[in-house]
Amino acid sequence: MALPRLRTVVLVSGAALLTRRALKRRIARSPLWPLPALPEPVSGHSKRRATAVRRLLITGRTVAADGVVQLRLEGTGLPRWEPGAHLDLVLPSGLVRQYSLCGDPEDTGAYTVATRLVEDGRGGSREVHEQLQEGLEVGVRGPRNRFPLADARGYVFVVGGIGITPVLPMLRSLAASGAEWRLLYGGRSRASMPFLAEIEKLGADGDRVTVVAQDEAGHPDVAAALAGLAQGTAVYCCGPEPLMDAVAAALPEGHPLHLERFSAAAGDATGSGPFEVELRRSGRTVPVAAGQSVLAAVRAELPHVAYSCEQGFCGTCQQRVLEGEIDHRDELLTDDERGDSMLICVSRCWGGRLVLDL
Ligand code: FES
Repeated sequence: MALPRLRTVVLVSGAALLTRRALKRRIARSPLWPLPALPEPVSGHSKRRATAVRRLLITGRTVAADGVVQLRLEGTGLPRWEPGAHLDLVLPSGLVRQYSLCGDPEDTGAYTVATRLVEDGRGGSREVHEQLQEGLEVGVRGPRNRFPLADARGYVFVVGGIGITPVLPMLRSLAASGAEWRLLYGGRSRASMPFLAEIEKLGADGDRVTVVAQDEAGHPDVAAALAGLAQGTAVYCCGPEPLMDAVAAALPEGHPLHLERFSAAAGDATGSGPFEVELRRSGRTVPVAAGQSVLAAVRAELPHVAYSCEQGFCGTCQQRVLEGEIDHRDELLTDDERGDSMLICVSRCWGGRLVLDL
């Protein structure tokens, strides 16, 4: 009798271990990990679930290209990151903006980001350019990675302008490992394209890099860059929306496409009728009017709920949905994530009621 019982114990322990590992993997893959920081915990949250804002010292500020500043942010024992990761910068005004890490992932003493000034933007890049000076501190959260480098037989990158920032650490890593890669790098002019000299050096062996400055040669030929891709080649694109559309349209079948958005895809957070949202852990229910986003309605009750872009591309506002039929209006979440979570800045509800884990 002892043997079957022992077998049962082993089976049960094994199943528990597998379940724990699966859970751990799911948490590690979740875009909510590390969780966005909340200035104060929402009812039911322990402080351990929130990622604290880390204060880093700006020890370097250089001009990486026309209209692009590069910041070196120093701290100690900083979390490691993988190429493609980004940081949340918590700006002095309270605005939160995401910037890709473009330094050395092995450097646990500093992070490096580069930011292009968007003249007609919503103020984040202007604040970075005008207020973040050497000797000051800035708050950061993360890093998080929504644009990781996948295993592939080869890589083709199509990049526009400041979209080079998440790609640069990938290129360094691929060049060091001897992997097969090519880059099509477009920009308004060579002077406006950051890291050009380093990139051309990285690609010097074997004609890997094609630089297309619009003022010299017009738009990059995306179709030519994607023609005749070898089996198993992964395609990465980061840049303005029209460039990403062109890559998606020209991509031959059977090649995975990895996109990193710096701006919102088309989406409407406010269309369709009213409904109500129950905030289960807070014990409150808020009405969402026809012309209002879920985020706006939730903020009326929970002013410290995390958000940033308000356009469905940064992922900061992602919340777990406990009940209700979600009308997803973003292009960021994976199918898996869409099952039980939503970006409350743009997505809505098909029925009359949603229940959020807030
Ligand atoms: S706030 Fe950026 S996705 Fe919602």
